[in-house]
Order: sequence, then structure tokens, then C-alpha cells
Amino acid sequence: MLTTSLPMLRVSDVTRQFQAQGRTVRALAGVSLSVPRGSTFSLVGESGCGKTTLARIVAGLDRASSGSVAFTADATARAPRVQMVFQDPYASLNPRWRIGRTIAEPLLFQRLRPADQVPARVAELLQRVGLSAADAEKYPHEFSGGQRQRISIARALAGEPDFLVCDEPTSALDVSVQAQILNLLKRLEAEDGLTSLFISHNLAVVRFVSTTVGVMYLGRLVEVAPTETLFDAPRHPYTQLLLAAIPRVGQGRREAAVPAGDLPSPLAPPPGCTFHPRCALAAEVCRREVPELRVLPDGAAVACHAVNGAAQPVRFMPRAA
Ligand SMILES: Nc1ncnc2c1ncn2[C@@H]1O[C@H](COP(=O)(O)OP(=O)(O)O)[C@@H](O)[C@H]1O
Ligand code: SF4
Ligand SMILES: [Mg+2]
Repeated sequence: MLTTSLPMLRVSDVTRQFQAQGRTVRALAGVSLSVPRGSTFSLVGESGCGKTTLARIVAGLDRASSGSVAFTADATARAPRVQMVFQDPYASLNPRWRIGRTIAEPLLFQRLRPADQVPARVAELLQRVGLSAADAEKYPHEFSGGQRQRISIARALAGEPDFLVCDEPTSALDVSVQAQILNLLKRLEAEDGLTSLFISHNLAVVRFVSTTVGVMYLGRLVEVAPTETLFDAPRHPYTQLLLAAIPRVGQGRREAAVPAGDLPSPLAPPPGCTFHPRCALAAEVCRREVPELRVLPDGAAVACHAVNGAAQPVRFMPRAA
């Protein structure tokens, strides 16, 4: 596989504000990250923290209010192609189109195949995602949720992406089919050497698919670390709370429980560290100053005054296994 020193995606200080009923919602408050070629960067965090907003900006479906999103061209000097797999396979397929037409659309739109080769390519894509060529004639309502997500994945692959954005691709599905879809995505990404941004609030899923994990809280990244480092030794108090809330195997829960205390509104975020109203370690400085994301010697980056040494010294013990 091709490797270059430049990351494939670089997101720099991206902000996004929305105007809603005369008020400003700060969905992203300055997010920076980079994704090396061939790796999977996952974003985790509670509902409303800005994951989908960032995903849409990376996929080119929305624009940042400020900051930049840059993809690095590969050796062919072609700009990387980006495709997105959405959360809801029911809402993201046109109910009036046979699925063959849905999958063919990116092929025709981007002129990736001459028209006479499109049906064969659609058949190939259907088979790649575990469906049959004859399914091209059917309508979305004839498929289960898991099959519809396979169709969405086939449509994304039809665009011959270099970079895939997956926004909670399994959270609308039955638990029993989630693993099948994740395994399919992981296999296809490996086979095609794809780079990806993966979004989920399910930490077990994230641990399974990611190279690097970024934990978001109210529009900011509060911790970014290699997957094993994050799960073995979470540094940020919010990450520690999220990990403590992972349901144990067999409990049948679909989502991690939300830590104690309400998620403050992005309409009126608290000053300083926005996590301070829920943080057991909050010190005076936390109410005044926004902590910067700083890199620790092992490569993890954390935005917390306690970890960064500006507040009272606190020893963060790696979580017991
Ligand atoms: N188009 C929009 N108009 C107004 N507010 C929005 C819009 N999109 C997202 N938001 C707000 O931005 C915040 C982040 O939303 P979102 O990115 O969907 O979070 P997540 O995907 O993590 O649940 C939320 O408060 C949400 O209500
Ligand atoms: S900066 Fe302060 S309030 Fe924020 S997470 Fe760290 S210790 Fe808690
Ligand atoms: Mg979302």
C-alpha cells in the first residue's frame, strides 16, 4: 500500500455555527485532527456533541463556518474521492427507485463507467456486499434494515472512494445484524485500502474498528489517542466516564449509558472547560480557561487542565483491566 508522510485528511480548527430561532448553536468549536492513509479514525461522544456536523463537512455536504478541511492527493495526483454511509438506511434510499438505479447513480454521475458497463458493475457491487445481482430489480421496501445498509454501502463503493465517512452505520439496525455490517465494512476497507472516518456512540464498536479514537464533547475534541492507549489508559475525565459506562457483554444494551449530569446545551455552553459542571476534578482554572488539546509522551492528546498540569496535580492511573 502507498504510504506518504502527509495524512490523507487534515481538519484544521473547524468551527460550525447554526442559526436556529434567532439563536446561535455552536455545533463545532474548533476541531483539528489528521487521518493517515489506510487508517480508521473514530469519533465518539454523546448525541449532540457535533459528530454528524463534522462528518458532513468532511464529506463535502456542509461547509465549516471557519477552519479548513484538506485532502492530500495520492501518487496519481487525483484528489481523493469521498463517499458517505449514513446512519439510517431507511431514509437514505429513494423508495421509488429500484436499487439498481440507486447504485448506478454515482457511476453515471461521476462517469466512472461507460453506460453499457453499468449493469455489470452494479451486479458486481451487489455481490461484493453479500446481495445478489437479481436484487437490482427490487425496491428498498423489499429488504431488511441490514440488507438496506448493504445497499447503501454498495452505492458508496460505486463512487470508488478513497475515503469513506461512516456516520453511525449500524446504530439503526438490530443488534443481531450490527456485527455483520461492521465486519463487511472492515473487510471492504481492508481490501480496497480505504481510509475512513467512523462515527459511533458505541465504544465496543469503536474499539473493534478504529486505529485512532477521538472523543468529542460539546463541539470539541477532548482526547485523541491510538485505540489501545485510549481503552487501556483513558486520561480525560470524560473519556473515563464514558468507558466506565460501557455495558457488559450480555446485558443486551445497544448504547453506552450516558454519564451522570445533563449534556449542557450548545446554545449556552459553560465557560472554560465545558465539561466542568459534570467533572469531579473541576478546579478554579477549569471555570475560566478552555484547556488546549496537548500531546503527552505516549502520543495521546488530552484537553484537560488536570492532566496538562495547570490545575492541581492529579495522578491518572491506567484503568484496571
Ligand atoms: N442544521 C442544523 N440547524 C440547527 N442546529 C443544528 C443543525 N445540525 C446540527 N445542529 C445542532 O448542532 C449540534 C450538533 O449536532 P450533531 O452534529 O448532529 O451531533 P451528533 O451527531 O454528535 O449527535 C446539536 O445541538 C444539533 O442540534
Ligand atoms: S479541565 Fe478541569 S473540568 Fe475539564 S475535564 Fe479537566 S479537570 Fe475536569
Ligand atoms: Mg449524529
